[in-house]
Amino acid sequence: MSFKVQPASPSRPNRCQLFGPGSRPAIFEKMAASAADVINLDLEDSVSPADKPEARANIIRAINEIDWGTKTLSVRINGLDTPFWYRDVVELLEQAGDRLDQIMIPKVGNAGDIYAVDALVSAVEMAKGRKKPIDFEVIIETAAGLAHVEEIAAASPRMVAMSLGAADYAASMGMQTTGIGGTQENYYMLAPNGKKHWNDPWHAPIVAIVAACRTHGLLPVDGPFGDFSDDEGFVAQARRSATLGMVGKWAIHPKQVALANEVFTPSEAQITEAREILAAMKQAEADGQGAAVYKGRLVDLASIRQAEVIVKQAELIV
Ligand code: COA
Ligand code: MG
Repeated sequence: MSFKVQPASPSRPNRCQLFGPGSRPAIFEKMAASAADVINLDLEDSVSPADKPEARANIIRAINEIDWGTKTLSVRINGLDTPFWYRDVVELLEQAGDRLDQIMIPKVGNAGDIYAVDALVSAVEMAKGRKKPIDFEVIIETAAGLAHVEEIAAASPRMVAMSLGAADYAASMGMQTTGIGGTQENYYMLAPNGKKHWNDPWHAPIVAIVAACRTHGLLPVDGPFGDFSDDEGFVAQARRSATLGMVGKWAIHPKQVALANEVFTPSEAQITEAREILAAMKQAEADGQGAAVYKGRLVDLASIRQAEVIVKQAELIV
């Protein structure tokens, strides 16, 4: 138990983050017109090395010229182990206007990585007199990132969100799979009747990310699900993440946006139940009781905090 109050995470919807390669400007308007809460224009792994300079120019133009509405606008820069990242930061912060909300730092391994980017971003912001400080979101997708997840979450006041990057995470951990998220068919237990029961190989990093984020007031987000022809698989993965406390999921194809929005928007039934629990507890309090019975089950002061999570999520969505 700590006497410190758990900090609130940023109060904005983050149900879906739609990605698009910076080298494919033809889709930028479609991204802006989508129902995703967050847009991630990519300079990293969906852009080939030769295309990086042009992708930067495309993205800067798009940030300045396209109407992104009320979306959170983010650019994924290249990793700190590449020759590209410093130019990504300098060109973006020097040339993109205040419409840019945040940058996403991939393959973060420790708090020092965040410190390095923070120093560069702070210098360019000062030099250019930028008024709105840029926020950071990061991807936990290496063994080092997972090992240092908490110090990364605490590394800078710019930090707002963390995503699990399943593909690079699997590679870094030496996992025997080429799948990007979802069910892995060799990851099963045998039930006494001999039937296979699939488990979730992404469970451990998801829980670690959620814990680090909730401790430091960040948004925990589930990353990509690669097989965009498998809607059911996407929804199953997203539901598990939502149950474990994540607030949203990436879309690497526009058809995944509606699926993520559906899963990460509390349903009418969930909202009604949460409000009924709050009403039952209000009545209990009026009666001088700390616990009550709601539909045959115990509800108490912790139930208020659980119900408030759902009500607050619902209130974020307009
Ligand atoms: N955002 C918005 N619209 C997109 C889109 C995206 N990321 N990807 C494709 N579209 C559009 C297409 O332009 C097409 O539009 P149209 O109907 O007006 O012609 C429509 O959606 C259907 O596209 P489809 O033909 O099914 O896909 P594709 O072959 O053009 O592209 C991918 C498939 C996966 C290559 C593409 O979606 C993509 O680049 N995704 C993001 C990859 C990425 O950023 N990865 C990094 C993070 S892991
Ligand atoms: Mg990656």
